[in-house]
Amino acid sequence: MTEKPKSGVDAADRYIEQHYFSVHGMSSSFAATVGAATMRIQSEHGIAGNFVEVGAFAGRYFIALSHALKDDERAIGFDTFHWPSAKVKTKLEENIAQYGVPSRSIVVAADSMKLSAKDILALAPGKKVRFFHVDGEHTPEHLANDLSLATETLDPRGVICLDDMLHAGYPTLPVIVDGFLKREPSLRVFCVIDREDIAAQTKYMICREPMFDFYIGELLKAFPDNVWPLGADFRYEKKALVLSPDPKLPNFDDLL
Ligand SMILES: C[S@@+](CC[C@H](N)C(=O)[O-])C[C@H]1O[C@@H](n2cnc3c(N)ncnc32)[C@H](O)[C@@H]1O
Repeated sequence: MTEKPKSGVDAADRYIEQHYFSVHGMSSSFAATVGAATMRIQSEHGIAGNFVEVGAFAGRYFIALSHALKDDERAIGFDTFHWPSAKVKTKLEENIAQYGVPSRSIVVAADSMKLSAKDILALAPGKKVRFFHVDGEHTPEHLANDLSLATETLDPRGVICLDDMLHAGYPTLPVIVDGFLKREPSLRVFCVIDREDIAAQTKYMICREPMFDFYIGELLKAFPDNVWPLGADFRYEKKALVLSPDPKLPNFDDLL
């Protein structure tokens, strides 16, 4: 059996291994591992800033990435906390206390449609966002709004991560992303993180164009056994990386 991939952030890897599925949520453990590894790579290259999540829910993904923060960086989680009931905010706070990094975590009950970039940056002044996870409401209007917030608050070397791309239940979301990227041509999808199952879905990771080769090169080094060899064709001159928990290709050697 091949070993489970690791992010290289010990506290994040321990949480993902031991407690990830004790915390309600939806993102895959593989996507959390890749996210924490991306933040480790950022830290190793002097890319600092906060982690923001729209749609923190009970904290499954939020806690994993908060373990990758350094120094005075903060994890800022937004949610309306209406679904499936108001209990979820208390659950998130309990989960952060039990499994997370309370001193670095900021939880805000808010509707992302009513937030501005200024509101987000004011919560932890002096730093932009180095990793912004968009996982709130899945309507075209909410996704476009949350993408704008992410773009406006992002450090020039930061990463936007979008959940539930290519999901059978939300087929229009990639169309919204495509339109958004056409209006923001300096942003590029550098990595597609493949789904684990229908509840733990595909994510896109996006950066500014000058960082495209950097992130691909570093993630190739971090996850050599998870690379799907054909890559993702976004019609750039170079393909984006595809990382999969199970990167198999059908074998047609018998037809040669
Ligand atoms: C799928 S859950 C997030 C799962 C979580 N990120 C994880 O990985 O486990 C989506 C969350 O988005 C929240 N949400 C929906 N609309 C929102 C809005 N307008 N602003 C902020 N959060 C919202 C919901 O309350 C819900 O908790």
